[in-house]
Amino acid sequence: MNRKKILVTGGAGFIGGNFVQYMVNKYYNYDIYNLDLLTYAGDLTKHHIIQNKSNYHFIKADIADSEAINILFSQEKFDFVVHFAAESHVDRSITDPEVFVRTNVLGTQVLLDAAKQAGISKFIHVSTDEVYGELEFDPTTYFSEDTPLQPSSPYSASKAASDLLVHAYNKTYGLPINITRCSNNYGPYHFPEKLIPLTISRILNGQKVPVYGDGKNIRDWLHVNDHCTAIDLVMHEGVNGEVYNVGGHNERTNLEVVKTIIKTLGKSEELIDFVEDRLGHDKRYAIDPTKLVNLGWKPTYTFDTGIAQTIQWYLDNQEWWGQIISGEYQNYFHKQYFR
Ligand SMILES: NC(=O)c1ccc[n+]([C@@H]2O[C@H](COP(=O)([O-])OP(=O)(O)OC[C@H]3O[C@@H](n4cnc5c(N)ncnc54)[C@H](O)[C@@H]3O)[C@@H](O)[C@H]2O)c1
Repeated sequence: MNRKKILVTGGAGFIGGNFVQYMVNKYYNYDIYNLDLLTYAGDLTKHHIIQNKSNYHFIKADIADSEAINILFSQEKFDFVVHFAAESHVDRSITDPEVFVRTNVLGTQVLLDAAKQAGISKFIHVSTDEVYGELEFDPTTYFSEDTPLQPSSPYSASKAASDLLVHAYNKTYGLPINITRCSNNYGPYHFPEKLIPLTISRILNGQKVPVYGDGKNIRDWLHVNDHCTAIDLVMHEGVNGEVYNVGGHNERTNLEVVKTIIKTLGKSEELIDFVEDRLGHDKRYAIDPTKLVNLGWKPTYTFDTGIAQTIQWYLDNQEWWGQIISGEYQNYFHKQYFR
């Protein structure tokens, strides 16, 4: 089989990091180039097991730096771009929207231009179900690929803008693309500012667990490994120009998620601290993944098996997240929750 070059942006982050490891281990005939700016969310220590493998390469660069990106694409002939790099935390987008527009919109456009000039085989844009806005608490309604984009937060608005740019490069310039829109991910190496790793790490530190509002907002959870297999499938089998929703029908209220973690760790629900609700907090997300299932995708984790595996991973890797929650993050975290 021909060797292929895959550029993965954001491969030092949570999902991109899991994807890089999955690809390096699965495809010995692919060279995986992890391009990442190493912002607060990027961390390379997670790649200690693959960093010496001959098919893994790291490039430190900013996706919004067109000069650096154009030089890279002129030096390396990439076959695929799998684009994860983004500012990804809704709370941060509410306090500092500018960097979200720069990275998520401008950065995507810079990559699309470079990919167009280079004539790559396909550009996979990793997006989110949050671009669809929110659903009511009606268990019979789901996001489909045809649901109109109605983002609520600066984060989801910047992702929706990047989705539209990707679509436009396909229509206008014929750049081969796919867009994936996944529900909330969880699993190993998740930065402890998001609900599940935040809850686990705070409980293990003997701290209170903040829950927004009444905790009744519903998210549709997917184990990160199942997201990786979905992207692998779309990369190889996805029909040019198509959008694929990714989700495993695992809807839970935030409160249910927190209570499950507390129970698994044998702690008391008195740890729960209901805090003022997030601005513009979407009520419910729920994905209809039929199109992707018809392409051949099947998730392997239920929420129950996935959350058990994830909690165990955090117990086994306290050193990793202990190092992650020091410094800048800890200051941010204190500001947000220590009242
Ligand atoms: N986390 C989820 O539940 C979820 C769900 C659906 C889709 N997504 C999407 O998946 C992608 C990855 O999400 P994540 O949770 O892994 O994010 P993350 O915040 O953990 O990682 C983002 C990575 O991008 C890098 N990065 C940021 N700005 C950059 C820049 N200007 N140039 C190069 N690298 C830069 C960071 O250093 C980090 O390594 C995002 O596009 C996000 O919108 C996330």
